[in-house]
Formats: sequence, structure tokens, C-alpha cells
Amino acid sequence: MDEVTFRMDTVLSDVHLLLPNARHLMTRLNGVGQPVFISKFKILWDAEEKEPACGGLSEDGSPSSASEAPLDDDGDLDVARRPRDASPERERVCPIILRQATGTSTDGRGEDDDDEEEEEEATRQDVIRIEHTMATPLEDVGKQIWRGAFLLADFILSRPAEFEGVTVLELGAGTGLTSVVMATQAKMVYCTDVGQDLLSMCQRNVTINRHLTEAKASEVRVRQLDWTGDDFCTDAEVAYAWTEDEVADLHNETSLIMAADVCYDDELTDALFRMLYRITSNLRNQSTVYLSIEKRLNFTLRHMEVSCEAYDHFRHCLDELHDMEDGKMQYCVEQVLSPFPQFFQYERVEHLELWKVSAYQK
Ligand SMILES: C[S@@+](CC[C@H](N)C(=O)[O-])C[C@H]1O[C@@H](n2cnc3c(N)ncnc32)[C@H](O)[C@@H]1O
Repeated sequence: MDEVTFRMDTVLSDVHLLLPNARHLMTRLNGVGQPVFISKFKILWDAEEKEPACGGLSEDGSPSSASEAPLDDDGDLDVARRPRDASPERERVCPIILRQATGTSTDGRGEDDDDEEEEEEATRQDVIRIEHTMATPLEDVGKQIWRGAFLLADFILSRPAEFEGVTVLELGAGTGLTSVVMATQAKMVYCTDVGQDLLSMCQRNVTINRHLTEAKASEVRVRQLDWTGDDFCTDAEVAYAWTEDEVADLHNETSLIMAADVCYDDELTDALFRMLYRITSNLRNQSTVYLSIEKRLNFTLRHMEVSCEAYDHFRHCLDELHDMEDGKMQYCVEQVLSPFPQFFQYERVEHLELWKVSAYQK
């Protein structure tokens, strides 16, 4: 593959922005011919308490001015540029790319040294290694890592007692990073998404990080779960399908559902919330749902102004859940505003938010 062609709907996660897009750094091509990279992210186990970067809520429950879009006099989005030397941490945010499986090391060191180093890295308790692609079309966004995944991962590591020994369902897990982090605390994580190619990348990530979860004897099972479908696929012929026992275990044991950065298309968001209702109302236990989202601001020709339609629709769906009176379920929705430490190095921008939904069966 000598040339990388970009489609109109190609997107690149900020997490990968600083990765040099060089062909020799990729590890392989995936099933659909996309270059796959492997990045290492350090877990800062000694992370200290941090001030919240998320915007708060004003008294009437609407987002405070801290999370409003900064506009100039004409109403255009005013993007604050970061001074070049204002963020000394920036370099460290960049994931380190492992060298290719074969070939000479770029720093001139011997291959044996590199192999040894890599073997050691591969079992370190403070490094999570994730295979991912870069700059994908929209339908493949799950093959990249998004900041919402790190926000949720930070939250999990900041509340180990809350997640100790629980059974968890992750929706739209993408590369599986958050599920792997959850498995450092939980007993069982059903890590779900759609698409065989994505799910096999996710499974590889679960496998290469198994050492992080071995001490807990926890398990991550990668399974297919399409929010637009009606049910759990139990067809044994289909890759990443569920067994009947797993479906029963999920319904009997799950008390926590999580999803990172999954609301970016209104139809999908509707499908996600329908799925959340269906699952929470069929679980044996009361459950809690954590949803991370990044409020992305865009100038739209339709409105001729800066808006964040996907975020607004997400908030509308949350409001509907909160106000629901169907005689069967009751939901309590709140934004997680309390500060929690940052265990991963990424930019926790103010538009990253975490929401908690408590689901009660009447
Ligand atoms: C922006 S990515 C986020 C991935 C990951 N959670 C993260 O934060 O890095 C959105 C995810 O939603 C998944 N998704 C989209 N439509 C879906 C559907 N109908 N059913 C299940 N997952 C879906 C995508 O495959 C993708 O993994």
C-alpha cells in the first residue's frame, strides 16, 4: 500500500493525532486492508487528585458557561490555539509506537536488546498495549481509541471498590481498552461491538493484555451486540456470538453497563437508548450505566451557526429516560462532576463528560 487515500468521511481521533503516519511503523494490515498500529499507554498508578476538567451544570440543569462554545462577534467558533510551548506534557501524551516485528531498529540498537525490552514491556503491570488503526471512515471509528475511553478508564481506576467483583457489559467497546481496564477490577466483562474485523482486533487486545487481569482471575469476553438488532445473537456459526449460558449469566449477574463515546449519530443514539432500556429492564438486578461523551462543536450550514447536534440529541435522550413513567422502569440521570484522578496521559478537555444513569425496576 503506497498511498493512503482519504475518503470524505475519514476521521482521526485526537488520541492518535501525534502518531507519525509512517508506513514502516505499522505492524500489519487488518482483514480489510487497513494498516494496524500498536501503541503502548502507561497507567499512572500513582495519579493524584485532579481538578475536574468537565463543564458543570448551572442551577437549571443546563450546561454551565464553562462548556458553552466560545464564539467571536460574528458568531463563528473561536478556536483557542494552544501556544507551542504551553504544554510540556504534550510529548508524553503521544503513544509510543513499537518497532516492526522484523527489520532494524531505528536507533541502531541490536534486535536482541529490543526483543528483550519488548518482552518485558509485554508483561508490565503499568502498560496497556492496544492495536488500532488511524484515520478511518466513519463506519470504522471503533478501530481508533477515543478520549471518552480514557475518561471512563480513569473513572474505573479511581473507584476500584465500586467495580470490585462485578459483572459488566460494555457497549460499543471499539478496541476494548476500557473493558481491559474494567477487568483489572471486575469479575466478568462482556465487551461488545459489531463487525467481525473490529471484534477480532478487540479480541487481540484483550489477549495481549491478559497479564493485567490475571491476578484478579477476571475474564473479558468479546461478543457481538448490535444496538439496532432485537436480540443477542446465539447462532454458533457466527463469530463472537453468545452462548445461551452467557446470555443467562449477563441477565442474572450484570449490575453495570458502560459505553464510551458512542453518541455521534442520532439514529444510532436512539438505537443505543432503546437497547439500554431493553437490557436494564430485563436484568435481574438494579443497574448503573456510565456513559462518556465528548461534546464536539461544529459549524453547520443547516443552522448557519456552531452547534453540537449529536451532544444535544444525547442530552435529549437522557432527559427522556429521566422523565420516563412507564410503570416498569425508573431512571435517575446525573452528570459525574466530582474530580477524579487521571491515570492515563491524554488531553482531558473540558468538553469530555461522564454521565451516570441509575436504573430501578418498579
Ligand atoms: C467512537 S467509537 C468509540 C469506541 C470506544 N468505545 C472508544 O471510546 O475508544 C463508537 C463505537 O460504537 C460502535 N457502534 C456503532 N454502531 C453500533 C451498533 N449499531 N451496535 C453496536 N456498536 C456500535 C462502533 O463500532 C464503535 O466501536
